[in-house]
Amino acid sequence: MAASTKQATGGVEEAAAEEEPRILEPGAAPFGNFPQYSRFHPPEQRLRLLPPELLRRLFPQSPESRPILGLDVGCNSGDLSVALYKHFLSLRDGETCSDASGELHLLCCDIDPVLVERAEKECPFPDALTFITLDFMNQRTRKVLLSSFLNQFGRSVFDIGFCMSVTMWIHLNHGDRGLWEFLAHLSSLCRYLLVEPQPWKCYRAAARRLRKLGLHDFDHFRSLAIRGDMANQIVQILTQDHGMELVCCFGNTSWDRSLLLFRAKQATETHPIPESLVEEGKEKNRLRSWRQ
Ligand SMILES: C[S@@+](CC[C@H](N)C(=O)[O-])C[C@H]1O[C@@H](n2cnc3c(N)ncnc32)[C@H](O)[C@@H]1O
Repeated sequence: MAASTKQATGGVEEAAAEEEPRILEPGAAPFGNFPQYSRFHPPEQRLRLLPPELLRRLFPQSPESRPILGLDVGCNSGDLSVALYKHFLSLRDGETCSDASGELHLLCCDIDPVLVERAEKECPFPDALTFITLDFMNQRTRKVLLSSFLNQFGRSVFDIGFCMSVTMWIHLNHGDRGLWEFLAHLSSLCRYLLVEPQPWKCYRAAARRLRKLGLHDFDHFRSLAIRGDMANQIVQILTQDHGMELVCCFGNTSWDRSLLLFRAKQATETHPIPESLVEEGKEKNRLRSWRQ
């Protein structure tokens, strides 16, 4: 069945597993570590919703003195990480550097070492994108690896974190408490946070797939109390418990996943989001302000 047909009925995870049985070994991707993920959920779907000038407007500092530091959690094989880098620096296809190359550095991590190895090998911007194998839920390793990266720049937090299609896998594997802690760590590490939560229907699709394979359900699936409108649940956790505010929603992808931008309320270094960004987005009908 074509992936496009499955879009209407379930999550990409379900479509991917059925589409690529030999490559994906369905059930062997318990963390969402699908080897061909970007074929089913292409970066372009997300990028077209994001203004290319977003980072420059959020962080209008001089690039040489202070590069923008980003953290991409759950980077898979790096396709989205590379696409984000090119998008925010307005690099054309095939262009591997520009005057702005030193402006942005991304630390990209994933729990799956095979995916990380591939990301490293295929990355066209090895000076700007660093890929590491990291289980983000492992507190000790996380602290060591992230601090080591930040220390190189004399910084203690990232300017922006990207958490794209990862929350469901954390939630299914670590339960409500795990999701809450994951969001706590991310919000303490990043001044801004861009989150693309998977909707609840994707949880059901992921669990159904395991059942079809005769495998055990995810440990936590049946006992999750945080459920339903997952975008709203994540907004509530980040804003009420973790000191962030919702800046805007950039709209929904064709997979019905929203792109939510948050900002740490207390970060002293944070610049106010330019009104022009919000206004411009409104005009283009692609940036819905959720400010209250
Ligand atoms: C569905 S993919 C999303 C890939 C990419 N962010 C995107 O949106 O195109 C989810 C990724 O999260 C990774 N992941 C899941 N749990 C993780 C964890 N505890 N630590 C780091 N990465 C994790 C998986 O290995 C997988 O590559």
